[in-house]
Amino acid sequence: MLKQMAQLLSRAPRNRLIAVTNGFQSQRKFQLDTSAWHHAKVELTSKRYPIRRGDFSQINPRDIEYFRGLLDSHRVITEENELEGYNTDWLRTVRGVSSVVLKPRTTEEVVTIMKHCSERKLAVCPQGGNTGLVGGSVPVFDEVVVSTALMNKIESLDELSGVMVCQSGCVLETLDNYLSENGLMMPLDLGAKGSCHIGGNVSTNAGGLRLLRYGSLHGSVLGLEAVLASGEVVDCLSSLKKDNTGYDLKHLFIGSEGTLGIVTKVAIQCPTKPRSVTLAFLGLESFDDVLNTFKECKAKLGEILSSCEFIDASSMECVTQNLNLKSPIEPYPFYMLIEAAGSNGDHDEEKLNNFLEETMGSGMVSDGTVSSEPSRMMTLWALRERIAEALLHDGYTYKYDISIPLLDFYKVVEDMRERLGDSVVRCCGYGHVGDGNLHLNITTREYDQEIFHRIEPFVYERTSQVKGSISAEHGLGFKKRNYIGYSKSDNAVHLMKQLKKMMDPQGILNPYKVLPE
Ligand code: FAD
Ligand code: MLT
Ligand code: ZN
Repeated sequence: MLKQMAQLLSRAPRNRLIAVTNGFQSQRKFQLDTSAWHHAKVELTSKRYPIRRGDFSQINPRDIEYFRGLLDSHRVITEENELEGYNTDWLRTVRGVSSVVLKPRTTEEVVTIMKHCSERKLAVCPQGGNTGLVGGSVPVFDEVVVSTALMNKIESLDELSGVMVCQSGCVLETLDNYLSENGLMMPLDLGAKGSCHIGGNVSTNAGGLRLLRYGSLHGSVLGLEAVLASGEVVDCLSSLKKDNTGYDLKHLFIGSEGTLGIVTKVAIQCPTKPRSVTLAFLGLESFDDVLNTFKECKAKLGEILSSCEFIDASSMECVTQNLNLKSPIEPYPFYMLIEAAGSNGDHDEEKLNNFLEETMGSGMVSDGTVSSEPSRMMTLWALRERIAEALLHDGYTYKYDISIPLLDFYKVVEDMRERLGDSVVRCCGYGHVGDGNLHLNITTREYDQEIFHRIEPFVYERTSQVKGSISAEHGLGFKKRNYIGYSKSDNAVHLMKQLKKMMDPQGILNPYKVLPE
């Protein structure tokens, strides 16, 4: 074992200065390789799902004329080819038929758009980077798409407090790069970093790879500005860390998936960028070993632990076979990525060594590799971050994102695998084990209604039985809204409906999403 550990540590390049000056956070994640995807049109949502269009007006030439008078013509998209991308989700599982996409640049333009849509009773679908995974970001029918793509200004950065104020259409990675130049970083990081917008992140309360360390956006977002369905502006753009004056309304918009307002600006608390970052990629024989290793890394790494992720063998097979990535170690039933980030390389290294000594010495961890060299860490992270993309190459992905008590965590994957047998291409599990968040994914060559009904509502019943949540981070969107009752009480859902009615009496903001029919 000790020999194994020495081997493990000797594989770790000692190049911390590079990590400081050219930090991994500031590097581009990866380019999606979509060449293998078939480009047939996705079946219309209104055809695949039993759903009726709400009682909204239909867009007419006078509306388009009005919008063209408000925005330049290239910011009012009506060309069918161009509309396709805004109507179809990233997973290629849902598709709407909106005939217009609007691209405002300012809050005032969003106000005017919403006032018009409210007067005309036109339904609206707010859209950021369109990387959402629950069908919330695209129209179900012909809703007007309001894209934040051009609302991409950084308004201010207070280097002392670390508070940044920006428009909601800023791309997460762009913000992170900007902050990196100022010794700061974004408090969240996800595989869709290169495309998703901060407004989309806030509206979904996105989690990601470092929630374990920096907490949820309910903590990091200090303030925001939103435009209601009526066109009224709600200014909660406080930059204060502490403010107990009345109800904290910003929280209503965090995670409400565009159903209560369009987020136009965000004030976010940005942590200091760590000076040293090290990533351990480990191979383990059992899920019990994963849990024990998690416990041990919390104990041994303490405050420098910045991420704790797991991958099962089937997910690893998917990413290596479908994307041709290489695992740095021999095949194991489970893998973990454990990241340590701190302010003193020597101190951090000592802690990491203690942790590896303990876990390898006891046999909890069987093999692994360690690196603090940015490009090497990126290569290792790709094995985890690109699983979602790799799964798309199988065909259709049934994607579940659940919070589940750790003792029951992997059993859900095993139960589902047994239930579906060889009727599916793959049934795999990966995710944010450090946050109790499992990504259970099943693939088939193409969408299969029968398989779908074997998975749902079973997966929600199973989750609810152990008091888990049917959505840990992706939200409910269109696909999961009717299952909200598995995670929230009737009274809670009733109150949510009342809030929606009060803030959007005509129900024009992102209809058919979040709340059940
Ligand atoms: P969109 O997809 O455009 O929209 C998402 C929802 O927010 C929709 O309901 C939309 O109507 C609403 N919305 C968007 N902008 C606004 C706005 N300004 N005001 C009001 N409503 C708005 N998610 C995680 O939580 N953790 C992960 O680790 C993670 N990894 C991912 C990896 C990949 C490869 C992909 C494709 C997705 C991943 N996601 C993850 C899901 C997705 O990236 C997040 O939900 C992200 O926050 C969505 O941001 P977006 O700008 O793309 O929003
Ligand atoms: C992830 O953690 O990789 C994302 O949430 C996407 C997914 O669930 O596949
Ligand atoms: Zn995730």
